[in-house]
Amino acid sequence: LFVDASETKGNKIPDTLFGIFFEEINHAGAGGLWAELVSNRVSISASLFLCMDKVLWNFICFLFLFLFICKGFEAGGQNTPSNIDPWSIIGDESSLIVSTDRSSCFDRNKIALRMEVLCDSKATNICPAGGVGIYNPGFWGMNIEQGKTYIVVLYIRSLESINVSVSLTSSNGFQMLAAANIIAADVSDWTKVEVPLEAKGTNHNSRLQITTARKGVVWFDQVSVMPLDTYKGHGFQNELFKMLADLKPGFIRFPGGCFVEGEWLRNAFRWKETIGPWEKRPGHFGDVWGYWTDDGLGYFEFLQLAEDLGASPIWVFNNGISHNDQVATSSVFPFLQEILDGIEFARGDPDSTWGSVRAAMGHPDPFDLRYVAIGNEDCGKKNYRGNFLKFYYAIRRAYPDIRIISNCDGSSKQLDHPTDLYDFHVYSGANSVFSLAHKFDRTSRNGPKAFVSEYAVTGKDAGTGSLLAALAEAGFLIGLERNSDVVEMASYAPLFVNVNDKRWNPDAIVFNSSQLYGTPSYWMQHFFTESNGAILLNSTLQANSSTSLIASAITWQNLEDGKNYLRIKVVNFGSSKVNLKISIDGLEPNSIESFGSTKTILTSSNLMDENSFKEPKKVVPVQSLLENPSEDMDVILDPHSFTSFDILR
Ligand code: AHR
Repeated sequence: LFVDASETKGNKIPDTLFGIFFEEINHAGAGGLWAELVSNRVSISASLFLCMDKVLWNFICFLFLFLFICKGFEAGGQNTPSNIDPWSIIGDESSLIVSTDRSSCFDRNKIALRMEVLCDSKATNICPAGGVGIYNPGFWGMNIEQGKTYIVVLYIRSLESINVSVSLTSSNGFQMLAAANIIAADVSDWTKVEVPLEAKGTNHNSRLQITTARKGVVWFDQVSVMPLDTYKGHGFQNELFKMLADLKPGFIRFPGGCFVEGEWLRNAFRWKETIGPWEKRPGHFGDVWGYWTDDGLGYFEFLQLAEDLGASPIWVFNNGISHNDQVATSSVFPFLQEILDGIEFARGDPDSTWGSVRAAMGHPDPFDLRYVAIGNEDCGKKNYRGNFLKFYYAIRRAYPDIRIISNCDGSSKQLDHPTDLYDFHVYSGANSVFSLAHKFDRTSRNGPKAFVSEYAVTGKDAGTGSLLAALAEAGFLIGLERNSDVVEMASYAPLFVNVNDKRWNPDAIVFNSSQLYGTPSYWMQHFFTESNGAILLNSTLQANSSTSLIASAITWQNLEDGKNYLRIKVVNFGSSKVNLKISIDGLEPNSIESFGSTKTILTSSNLMDENSFKEPKKVVPVQSLLENPSEDMDVILDPHSFTSFDILR
């Protein structure tokens, strides 16, 4: 391998080259990155005494006074009776009747839960010990941890005085982790109650219980349990957020994917329905991936997530086309106006119509929205070109600096419409993805740039996240890096999977209520994090090198130690060990430091090896010191391996 290390002959790699793609698929957000623990939360509002359970906590009573407008319990649809799943009932027909009605105070979510309690601790029909009521198991069990505080919010209404217990318990209700009593003389108007609960035990499969032993009728709506500790208080689950931050993504594409399109337009992601106070968001059924989301992770939160990650937000929006229905170009204007409003929400002055809504949500400064994608995988559909052009010209006119992404692949032919970038998606077997490393070698250097917004090895080569898949993807990414004059961005897909609802295989980050790990594909991406904004050097593998080798070289500055490194990345996709001679040209004499250089390898004894909850670090990069780094090095590449040489200079 010959490397020309003279930076003047190199090219700057875009700051955005490697990023992430977040889609609401596999419960990535609802029941994942978004820290809300209640599934199908319900809403309520007013003024109330809250009394922490003295027996449990020896605490004093608190007075909380909140006045709000209400909503909630909508996952079963807006009609009654509505399915309250996964809420369940504690008690039987002789002790309580649980139903739904349309009495909520929230205009866009009229469904409330009505609980008619027939038993009473002071009557002949005595309530069972612990009372009767409802419980919510969260998204396949709530992770409640000792010493941590959880904020329970609920809206409640009753024509009688109430004495209701709110608790976090084990999945069978036997282990009490935290509890508080809500005692109020008058909740005849919807009343918002907020109760902080500190857990005195740990259980990864907990539930929220709302119980009472007092006869009467009580309504509940919008019930939420949020851990107090989320990333910067922004609602992102800390550990999952860290997995993203560790990738140092140059951009984040959101919120889909097919999620943006919907099977039907009526179920597509509509940003205006996802902003403002969470209680007022109607939520929606994502019909492509088949589950309800309360849209707590809404448009504002996605922009906030991008900002928190230091990543450029890329908003993919619906252009009037779903999987099964389309809006004619002549009627698309309302959809277009919706998107122009959305851009104003992100970027407008705090005194603009939509910028003021953002400011009211606590972010007066504009978000740095510089990319939008018109649709997802819609190229070739009847109205795509017409709709695209309407959006393209309107956005270009209003926001000339925004870079626009088309769904039509321009890698091997000229497009029939203007665009700044085009999407390129690839899901295929390992050999095919590896060989696509050369896909952009012959792409025109004068046209729009490529955005490889979804790539992954799929099928049997992928297992549920194999080393083989990661190696093929690494080869592909080296090819993209080498072509980063025409490839501006790339992201793996999908990013997250909650193992309890796997809609797509494989995925980069696997989690359940309390555990998580990165697949080899996740770790492979780590090798590329330093490339954003680095200098791509000329490097050539000698003609007789095996076709199963691919390499690239960059120089980059490590901001942590302020030092400059030359990084050479090589994939050996073959099954034999390779002796590789690396010759580095163009360095100042004696510029390689003797100490501080490293070698990092991703490999394993078996090509199909994977990580798991049991062995989360079975296939991860292993770093060691690189001995005797020099301009001429003989190195050994393990069979089926990825190696990064970081040479300190
Ligand atoms: O990444 C999963 C899906 O694959 C995306 O939603 C879609 O864009 C693609 O077909």
